This record gives sequence, C-alpha cells and structure tokens, in this order.
Amino acid sequence: MNSLSPRPGVATPQASTSSTRGLHVITWGCQMNVYDSERMSDVLRPLGYRAVSTPDAADMIILNTCHIRDRAAEKVFSELGRLRKVKEARAEQGAATVLAVAGCVAQAEGKEILARAPYVDIVLGPQTYHRLPEMVARAARAAGAVIETDFPVEQKFDFLPADRAAPAGGSAFLTIQEGCDKFCSFCVVPYTRGAESSRPAQAVLDEARRLVAGGVREITLLGQNVNAYHGEGPDGRTWGLARLARVLAGELGIERIRYTTSHPRDMEDDLIAAHRDLPQLMPFLHLPVQSGSDRVLAAMNRGHTADDYRTLVARLREARPDLALSSDFIVGHPGETDADFADTMRLIDEIGFAQAYSFKYSSRPGTPAAGAGMHVPEDVKDARLQELQAMLRVQQDAFNDATIGQVVPVLFTGRGRKPGQVSGKSPWLQAVSVEGPDSLIGQIANVDIRHRYTNSLGGILTEETDRA
Ligand code: 5AD
Ligand code: SF4
Repeated sequence: MNSLSPRPGVATPQASTSSTRGLHVITWGCQMNVYDSERMSDVLRPLGYRAVSTPDAADMIILNTCHIRDRAAEKVFSELGRLRKVKEARAEQGAATVLAVAGCVAQAEGKEILARAPYVDIVLGPQTYHRLPEMVARAARAAGAVIETDFPVEQKFDFLPADRAAPAGGSAFLTIQEGCDKFCSFCVVPYTRGAESSRPAQAVLDEARRLVAGGVREITLLGQNVNAYHGEGPDGRTWGLARLARVLAGELGIERIRYTTSHPRDMEDDLIAAHRDLPQLMPFLHLPVQSGSDRVLAAMNRGHTADDYRTLVARLREARPDLALSSDFIVGHPGETDADFADTMRLIDEIGFAQAYSFKYSSRPGTPAAGAGMHVPEDVKDARLQELQAMLRVQQDAFNDATIGQVVPVLFTGRGRKPGQVSGKSPWLQAVSVEGPDSLIGQIANVDIRHRYTNSLGGILTEETDRA
C-alpha cells in the first residue's frame, strides 16, 4: 500500500496524434500521489493531453515525487538526468517537451531542483495541481521555469475538474483529507503536505456519486491522517470519518469502503462503532504503530503508548471480530536500544498482523529526529529489520493460509498475470486470482481459495459466470 516504487504511466497508454499531446506521468510514493497523478492528468485533458506510455512520445513529462524516506532527492535527480536526454533527443527532432517535477520533493527542494536541473520547466507542490494548465501556458511562453510551491489558502480540490472518469475495475481512490499536524519526530509530511485540512463532505459525496454512476463498487478514502477527517457537512456541522462512511454506505450504496492511513490517536469511538455497524466497512485496517517501545514512541512524538495500541486493537476486534490489521514499523529510530526493539517484536507477536510495511529509519533534513544524535548504526538497523520482517512474514503467511478452503467475495479489478486470469481483492485486501473471463472485471464474485503464493492467493470461481 505504501509501496514507494515508481509506477510509470498512471493513466491508460494511448498514442499521441496530431490533435492531441502526449503526457507521461511517473509516480513515486503513496496512494495519495497516485490519486494526485490522476487528477493532474484530469486537469490537462481539456488542453488535449492524453497519456502515452513512454517519455519519448510525451510533449509533457511529470515526475510526481515522494520525499518520505531514502535518498529521495538523489533518485529524482538521477531520473531527471535520464529525462534530460529524452528532452534533448526530442528537441533535435523539433519537438518541445515540458518537464515538470511535482509532489513532496518539489515542495521541499524546489529551488534546489531549478538550480541543479535548469532544464526543468515547472516545479509544483502538492497544493497547486489545479494551477497546472496556467503553469504549462507560462512555461510554453518560454518565460523561464515556473515554480509554485506555496500553500495557498484555497483548497486545491475546489479547482480540480468535476468530470473525473471512473476507473475501470470497480475500485477507486478518493482523497478526503490532506496534510498532518502530528509532527512525528521522523516525518517530513507536515512540512511537505502542510497542515491538516479536510474536504467538505458535500464535495466528497459528489465525487463518490459520480464514481458510483461510473460503476465503482469500492472506494478507498485517502488522507495522510484520514481518520482525523473533520469536513464541513451539508448540514453545517462538522462531519467525522464515521459519519461520512455511514452516508457512503447508506445513501450512496457503496458496497466496499476502506480508508487509509489512520493514526491510533484519531480512532474515535464512533469510528470503532462504524466498524461494528457497517458491513460495507471492509475488515482490514492499516493502523501504523511504528514501534512497540514506549520510550521510542515518546521520542517519536506519537502521542500514544504500546498499551494504548493494544487496547485500541482489542476494542476494534470486539467491534469487528474478523478485522485484519496492517501497520508501519520503523527500526533504528535515534536512541532505539536492543530492549526497545525487543518491545516492538513482542508487540508484533501479541497483535498478529495480516501484513505490514517496515523501514529502516532514514534521517530527513529539517525533522526533529534528524538533529537528535544517538543515531543507530546501519548494520544494527539492517539486522533488526531482517528479524522484524521475518516475524511479519510468518504472520502474513499464517493469515493467508487461514483463508485456504474458505469461500470469499472478490472484487475483480483487472486481468491476472497469466492469460485467461482475472485478479482482484478479498475483503482483507488479499490479492486473489482465478481463471475467468474479462467480463468479471468490476464485479464481485465468490472464490473458493485453494492456494497461497508469496503475496497472493489463487482459487476457483464458485458461481457460473458468463464466459461470452
Ligand atoms: N524513516 C523511515 N521510515 C519513515 N516513514 C516515514 N518517515 C520515515 C523516515 N524518516 C515511514 C513511517 C510511515 C510510512 C509511510 O513511512 O512508517 O508510517
Ligand atoms: Fe508523518 Fe506522523 Fe503525520 Fe503520519 S502521523 S504523516 S508519520 S507526522
């Protein structure tokens, strides 16, 4: 879910013709970036831009970047070096290329990008995507590079086009909240995405309604701190995430609702109750804990203890007994000792995760942890990460093994890897593939689970399907 690998060509590949212009978007990072890349494609569509699958066919290339860990800026500069060659080769053929850097690296290092890569035409932060057409026009007038990384007061969502195409495959992301005020010691998000802000509930409902009309059955509500959602409701009151989920499930009839990423501190009673009351809220929750040591959690400024997390999980499981949990973990936060790490392993052992993401602490300039000293040596981080991932792997395999022999409803979202296969997601977000016709894509059908592979399940359809 938080995979940080590049996802080239987010939109459907399509050849550039003389009446259209080619757009190639390369996306790094979280689902919020995937969503933003789709919205950037939406705002550029009226200008004639259509997705192409390779940069050399593109009149505009956008690099949508992530700054959360690792050597983010270095990766961006190395990719830019490659794209510079593409731009130069196209220029030799007489074709201009607008090169844009978007996302959190653009936000954090905009000036540095223009200094080191002057061939970049546009640098835009996550709050300014709706201004992209205007920036493209300015760049095309060759007025020099354009940089837009302010946090404007207006909501970018208000300016994005309403005619978002519903994705094929029956499943869509919908951003309802951005930014974060939590200031975890290690994290750049409050600096790159800015303060927490929620979209008005009406705007969310309108977008959801359009998605449903386009055949969407599952909506994943997105936000850096999604369960801190507090949007203005149509009734003038503040709506929380639970209220929103109830309306999406009830009035809008959405069959599957998910939300990510949540903070344990914002897991309010009404949201736990919604997990009890709404079968549409899928029984899978990504609830990062980061560490199982109270000392480290305090140093991380997480605002909760390991026992707070244990109690919260117990309450959630009481509300929804089949709830599966996922988490993020960081090993080697400054000051983390062997005893602290052992506390994390104990927490994992006690909770039992269906899946999880784990990372070595990586120092982010400007964050409190970066200047804290007491950095943990790389080899210690490596060893801890290996140990932790081994335990998580055992838990994930056990969780997936437990579904063998069960019949589970799968929402088919696309073709499988092998010809003649379709694949989709179980309620617990497991990837499932079966032999089946393309007509199943966008549909929910029952699957008898027969096999577990490394990161997915295989099974057979239990219902007669139309193979026409
Ligand atoms: N180092 C390592 N991991 C980090 N994350 C965020 N910042 C850092 C960092 N500086 C991880 C956290 C977060 C996930 C999205 O990325 O676990 O939940
Ligand atoms: Fe970063 Fe912490 Fe906010 Fe999550 S809650 S985005 S880790 S500051």
